[in-house]
Amino acid sequence: MKINLQRTITSLTNALDFVGTDEYHHGKRVALMAVAIANEMNWSQPRCERMLYAGMLHDCGVSRTKEHRALTETLEWEGAQQHCRRGADFLAACPPLAGFSSIVLWHHTRWERLLLEDLDDDLRLETNLVFLADRADVLLAPYFIGPVLKNEILWEYPGIIERIAGLGGTLFAPVLVEAFRRAAARESFWLAMDPSYIEDQIEEHLNRGQPVELGTADTLAIAGMFAHTVDAKSSYTLEHSTRVARIARHLAQASGIRGEHLDQVEIAGLLHDIGKLRVPEEIIDKPGTLTREERAFVMRHSYDTGHILRKVFPGQPIADWASMHHENLLGTGYPFHSQASEIPLEARLISVADIFQALSQERPYRGHIAKSEVMSRLDSLSAQGRIDPEMVKLLHSQLDRCYALAVDPDEQSPRATACG
Ligand SMILES: [Fe+2]
Ligand SMILES: [Fe+2]
Ligand SMILES: [Fe+2]
Repeated sequence: MKINLQRTITSLTNALDFVGTDEYHHGKRVALMAVAIANEMNWSQPRCERMLYAGMLHDCGVSRTKEHRALTETLEWEGAQQHCRRGADFLAACPPLAGFSSIVLWHHTRWERLLLEDLDDDLRLETNLVFLADRADVLLAPYFIGPVLKNEILWEYPGIIERIAGLGGTLFAPVLVEAFRRAAARESFWLAMDPSYIEDQIEEHLNRGQPVELGTADTLAIAGMFAHTVDAKSSYTLEHSTRVARIARHLAQASGIRGEHLDQVEIAGLLHDIGKLRVPEEIIDKPGTLTREERAFVMRHSYDTGHILRKVFPGQPIADWASMHHENLLGTGYPFHSQASEIPLEARLISVADIFQALSQERPYRGHIAKSEVMSRLDSLSAQGRIDPEMVKLLHSQLDRCYALAVDPDEQSPRATACG
């Protein structure tokens, strides 16, 4: 399996930008501003490119809507360090992205504090550049009405420049503030942030850089990292995606699937819920019946998953398998209402693994469900014709192993361990 690193980061961080729910593209705007300022600093092309990906990845520790809101409401928030630490840990444990970990760790630390830390000079500037771009984007946020950038920005941007300049020497390095002043004095700096143009702007940068190909192990590591971000959305779903992936892989192997095909199933399992980054955690955690509005959030997550993964894995079936995990054999699942004949084996495996893990995992509003009860619920879904009886039979034959993979705290796959 060969996939492109730059495209993978770009597409998966699209999912991170979903966390803003009503405020999209934060990561991409920070990325573009960081590159524009890095260019003003006359940094080398590879270093500028590095700032693009650092910008896109900088909030990989934020999966909760509330936290995103707190971070974008005020210039300094006392709770900001948590997501820096979380994101840095996720990245450090993921070999192809580990080089971004330190930038993410320090990206909410004031410049005057950074000077007291024993850090590499380049790192100090790079992480402070992400901080500056991130805070400039917070000041820009009021200029969006839904998907439109208001024209007011063209006469009011000097106010944003002055706000940032006033923080030179305390929050931001004076040399970065000067570079920002030069970059942001051009209308084009702000117009590039228009939601209708931003993806094209990122695409231009992607086409300029040297493509880096990822092999299977690195792809699994990145999928594992994003699985952790999704699972961190709620304390009730911790490790859900990682465990679903392991169960699906185990069942796939037991059903005779081999080689790279197994890796594809595992990747689809790891990322099956990536669209959930758009669902506010209050809805994920809600024990009772959902309102029509809340249900709409939930019902779009598997479609969003497919949309994101199609860009990361073009020409591969991974996106289809993942986006079909809420379909059923009666044709009444969502979002496609696929008929049984249209649902591939791999999607059926992921769907069964998903239901099995979710039922086996303890949830505060319903406590623990015994293994036998979990299986009797799956048997009943199979008897109703909803889920594949062959898959449920397979699960029965592998029950002890699958149950351990679903709940056992000591059950860590070699890959899951490698990625935190
Ligand atoms: Fe941010
Ligand atoms: Fe789901
Ligand atoms: Fe799930």
